[in-house]
Amino acid sequence: MIRATVLAGIGAAIPPRSVTNDELARTLDTNDTWIRTRTGIRTRHWADTGTSTGDLATAAGARALKSAGVDSVDLVILATSTGNQPMPGTAPEVATALGLGHVAAYDISAACSGFLYALSAAAGAIASGVAERVLVVGADVWSTRLDPQDRSTTIIFGDGAGAAVLRAGDADEPGALLGFDLGSDGTGHELAQVAGGGSRERGSGLPARPEGAYMTMQGKDMFTHAVNRMAASSEQLLGRVGWSAADVDWCAAHQANIRILHTVADVLGVERSRMLVHLDKVGNTSAASIPLALTDAAVSERVKPGDRVLMTAFGGGLSWASTALRWPEIDVMEISTEI
Ligand code: COA
Repeated sequence: MIRATVLAGIGAAIPPRSVTNDELARTLDTNDTWIRTRTGIRTRHWADTGTSTGDLATAAGARALKSAGVDSVDLVILATSTGNQPMPGTAPEVATALGLGHVAAYDISAACSGFLYALSAAAGAIASGVAERVLVVGADVWSTRLDPQDRSTTIIFGDGAGAAVLRAGDADEPGALLGFDLGSDGTGHELAQVAGGGSRERGSGLPARPEGAYMTMQGKDMFTHAVNRMAASSEQLLGRVGWSAADVDWCAAHQANIRILHTVADVLGVERSRMLVHLDKVGNTSAASIPLALTDAAVSERVKPGDRVLMTAFGGGLSWASTALRWPEIDVMEISTEI
């Protein structure tokens, strides 16, 4: 019998420094009204020099372990595209910092879809008996890779981390992950990318182009794909789970732009008020965005035990993913700003 994977705890962390739209408008040709009306973002949090993705992931992971009431896991999966360094992966450092001993630990690079991809990997590990309990973390510090002159990326992205503890359990328990829909389309890999620093752009060991270290994004194309992919993936998932749009109490969609969230709701036939909105406070936090939004909603008791929650994400790659669960009875703490 295939064992189910059940959400046992959740936690999140953001750096303390809040960067407002007005602050960005001091150095960029933009303004608060444009950013608020075109994206829904009011502020985002950026890490100070010296704070790494691993540091945020550790803070979020510690909260998730506490929420689950456990101090050990068999596996740590970190979804990130901004690891502490290109090699090695950051998950082993996070596992060590959390005092988890010599557990298996690896990174997943699936941009803003990373957290849901990592949940599916955790579900696979639990179903196969590789692990009884898994810590999944989505964390990104994109502020280190934003071109300060590029107003299409700098206004959008924030830093953060969100984590979940998953355990083996039964499919009819609240918190059981009810299915997955995952997909990708490599023809769109250039739509959001860090072009340099990999094996495609070869230098003589040194970066070929320093500006290749920045993230670039074709915003309009990403917008269209985000709507189409999240809506189609959600529909697939709902069909698999046997829910209609009216059954969805909350949709935790990747927090990229309020207009994307509204359009996805309209296409799916889910009330706009059922879309969790957290991007106004933190911007687009990439792999951290869904667990951050869920933590925020659970702390404020919008999401309550028994609620049917649909999660859907889209990101660079292109990549997309969806899953669903009934919200379990778990302790949730405020999003931490102590890193
Ligand atoms: N401040 C002020 N004006 C801006 C601006 C900014 N930050 N960015 C663009 N503009 C201007 C443009 O120059 C353009 O002016 P024009 O009409 O005089 O030429 C106008 O605003 C519209 O620009 P456009 O690029 O069409 O804006 P947009 O509505 O598409 O918004 C994004 C840009 C990036 C906010 C939007 O495309 C977006 O959110 N895309 C999706 C991002 C995403 O989902 N990314 C990741 C998924 S992981």
